[in-house]
Amino acid sequence: MTSNASRAASPDERIRVLAVAGARPNFMKIAPLMHEFARRPDRFEPILVHTGQHYDQKMSDSFFRDLGIPEPDVNLGVGSGSHGHQTAQVLMKIEDLLIERKPHVVLVVGDVNSTVAATLAAIKLDIPVAHVESGLRSGDRKMPEELNRILTDSVSEWLFTTEASAEENLLREGIPIEKIHFVGNVMIDTLLSHKEKADKLDTVERLGLTPKRYAVLTLHRPSNVDSADQLRRLFEVLGRLNQDIPVVFPIHPRTAKAVEENLGGMKPDLHMTDPLGYLDFLRLLTDAQMVLTDSGGIQEETTALGVPCLTLRENTERPITVTEGTNEIVGTDPQAIEEAIERLRSEPPREGRRPELWDGDAAVRIVDILERDLTARPDGKNLGSA
Ligand code: UD1
Repeated sequence: MTSNASRAASPDERIRVLAVAGARPNFMKIAPLMHEFARRPDRFEPILVHTGQHYDQKMSDSFFRDLGIPEPDVNLGVGSGSHGHQTAQVLMKIEDLLIERKPHVVLVVGDVNSTVAATLAAIKLDIPVAHVESGLRSGDRKMPEELNRILTDSVSEWLFTTEASAEENLLREGIPIEKIHFVGNVMIDTLLSHKEKADKLDTVERLGLTPKRYAVLTLHRPSNVDSADQLRRLFEVLGRLNQDIPVVFPIHPRTAKAVEENLGGMKPDLHMTDPLGYLDFLRLLTDAQMVLTDSGGIQEETTALGVPCLTLRENTERPITVTEGTNEIVGTDPQAIEEAIERLRSEPPREGRRPELWDGDAAVRIVDILERDLTARPDGKNLGSA
């Protein structure tokens, strides 16, 4: 990490961190980091940038409110578009901002298009990037997120990991071990710090549900929702479960659009709701009998909560949720899904345990490392220098 020494802040200068968030799954990851920077006002000057990739009240604003994330300093307002268009918009707009604000470091989280675009803009300006939730790999390069992860990790200076498999993946890709830091999971920081508040909500009753007598479903991956056939087959199986216990389905805008455009007005036989806020959704997960999802983050949240999760994908980039947690990868074949549901309902659920360092302090560890590595030492070498 020799290059960081020249960019370190002197002890009487604050470290300017330009933190980037764009899409819903970014918000719960950026929140504890912003809170931690706020606790160290003498050392850090955070600049929060919302790219505007997600912009609906229910996909964005409600998360800022629920999680107490400060108002973004800048909103790039990029909105929706093709991958090329969306990525290019973030890249162009954030470059101007980086030139103007001259941060010591750009902090990115997760694997969305905003993550890779901000990374590319920063490294071209020779600004080092810190990537939170680094090293996860599904092995499936058809997933847009997998490409975003590989590209971001390959040029980041600090790679903060959540589980052991991530470090193995990064080492295999030739990343030097000094850049890799196993710090735990910032998303679980957020879950643990909001659990008590969520537990007090009446979400379950409000939706007319009985604790442990309902399932929660989320679907938004292109591989599941962009094909009308696949979507119809999934709804058939899940509709049958819904005859037995309510299947609550907060529908992602992308999925709502696909249902409208591809299913000719067919209404799935499920308990559909609009996308829920963070606290309501956490409340719903906590008392679910089972969760069915194609999300990445929900696999981790259910593991942290000890709630059974069936992942409707062929792979996972978060294998620790299977080896230690409550997650099972069931694929997308309707018969396999139906069998997995049956098994889950007839056998005692797997206990699982919370993985190492998913303890609520990941953001503290990350900010400690950044402070150490970005504070210049009197001899001109920062502590992180090799
Ligand atoms: C994005 C991320 C995905 C993440 C997901 C969580 C990428 C490549 N994908 O997927 O990793 O799991 O967010 O939600 O970055 N839309 C709205 N309102 C919004 C946002 C989106 O209506 O506030 C609709 C638009 O029609 C848009 C579509 O949803 O075209 C998809 O949005 P987009 O940001 O492109 O990708 P997601 O599917 O949300």
